[in-house]
Amino acid sequence: MLSDRSRPVIEATLPVVADHIEEIATRFYTHLFGEHPELFDGVFNRGNQAERTQQMALAGSVAVFASSLIKVPEQLPEHLLSRIAHKHASLGIIPAQYDVVHDNLFWAIVDVLGDAVTPEVAAAWDEVYWLMAYALINQERGLYSARGVRPETVWREWEVVEKTPETDDVVTFRVRRIDDRLVKTSLPGQYVTVQVPMPDGVRQPRQYSLTRADDGEHRQFAVKRVRGDGKPDGEVSNFLHDRVQIGDRLTMSLPFGDVVLDDSGRPVVFASAGIGITPMAGMLSHLAAAGSHLPITLLHADVDEASFALRGQVLADIEALPGANAHVWYERGAQTSLPVDVHAGVLNLEDVKLPDDALYYLCGPLPFMQAVRSALIERDVAPRDIQYEVFGPDLWQADLVTEDTPGAGRHAAG
Ligand SMILES: Cc1cc2nc3c(=O)[nH]c(=O)nc-3n(C[C@H](O)[C@H](O)[C@H](O)COP(=O)(O)OP(=O)(O)OC[C@H]3O[C@@H](n4cnc5c(N)ncnc54)[C@H](O)[C@@H]3O)c2cc1C
Ligand code: HEM
Repeated sequence: MLSDRSRPVIEATLPVVADHIEEIATRFYTHLFGEHPELFDGVFNRGNQAERTQQMALAGSVAVFASSLIKVPEQLPEHLLSRIAHKHASLGIIPAQYDVVHDNLFWAIVDVLGDAVTPEVAAAWDEVYWLMAYALINQERGLYSARGVRPETVWREWEVVEKTPETDDVVTFRVRRIDDRLVKTSLPGQYVTVQVPMPDGVRQPRQYSLTRADDGEHRQFAVKRVRGDGKPDGEVSNFLHDRVQIGDRLTMSLPFGDVVLDDSGRPVVFASAGIGITPMAGMLSHLAAAGSHLPITLLHADVDEASFALRGQVLADIEALPGANAHVWYERGAQTSLPVDVHAGVLNLEDVKLPDDALYYLCGPLPFMQAVRSALIERDVAPRDIQYEVFGPDLWQADLVTEDTPGAGRHAAG
């Protein structure tokens, strides 16, 4: 909790920091990578830096954390922290790196705000930083120790044993362990970080959701090829599609991720669009493996049937689950050859009957998830019953946390 000395200083300076936080985050990363170029090798995602999404996510998270210390001092923004801690753990971040981030962040704060950063102001923001840093360090320590690993040992080598085209743009990779250590279990909905050596010698990490329940030997994930359409093509997805073949080795982290299936026995509704089907496929695979009798509804939107990745696997799991049904929406019309209820156009909750008291899991482009979440809230679904996975730095969460606190967090809207 913030000290009595720092509280009024943070309250007074939060608006000016919030107004400049994106500029601070940009200067911070430029300075950080200037001082520590090795952080691009296997740690930071340079696509997110080029897109500026990581700068915005960092800025949003700090602004939200500080404003929450002022507005709800008795409670930390757990959801925000847990998403970051899982991402950090999947990259093997260590406590000592928090000093490096601290020094570069405070360099950037002074660089942007100049004389406004009096010793009193610096001390108050230093306190905010370490409150947030220790909250993250403690969660990350818990995540590492729960899996019985150290940050350096989250990584392991796997061998690609199957590479299966799902659609024109999506390929499934099935990898097998190559050592005799036990394969750690995953929770339904989690992702791994895959770390790939790029042609310029720099390793680049990317997250991929697991699409199958554990079998003690394999992991499976599906990758959509990211086309540049005027910008550079996605480097890791294209590398995985074009260069990684059966028999090759891949470096992958243990599974992490906080959007996981709740086992409270309540009905489940999955709503996905496009490649957002992957965590749903993983959760359905776990449910099928467990022989679940829960009421389960899959709502999936795609361009057309040919673009619907993992449709064979997902619909086979739905068929095997006695309480499950699926509805799909195709932008190009309601044509299907599958045993599924098909609708034309974009996903519309009016087309379906949803179970009472369900838990909702969303994954897809941000506007899709925002529309579905709003429609659910219109129907009186409690916000706490809706979880969502974002395939990139989360630029939405910061705004959700601050929905009732105008000012802070607005920069995170992107
Ligand atoms: C929790 C989580 C789960 C995920 N699960 C999956 C999954 O199951 N399946 C899946 O396919 N993906 C998944 N993703 C997304 C995945 O991690 C990658 O982001 C995705 O594969 C794109 O990576 P890339 O290296 O191909 O693209 P990048 O190289 O990172 O490029 C991303 C974007 O940045 C642009 N860009 C890159 N460099 C520049 C530049 N210099 N200037 C301008 N623009 C630039 C590109 O044009 C592109 O639009 C997930 C992400 C997260 C966070
Ligand atoms: C208080 C300190 C820190 C804060 C507030 C913070 C905040 C964040 C946020 C908001 C994200 C995006 C999470 C998401 O939605 O996916 C993130 C990701 C990340 N963080 Fe941190 N972080 C901190 C410390 C660190 C440290 C010490 C390191 C180590 C060098 C680090 C490395 C990373 C990396 C590599 C990513 C993933 C970046 C990407 O995928 O583009 N962070 N962090």
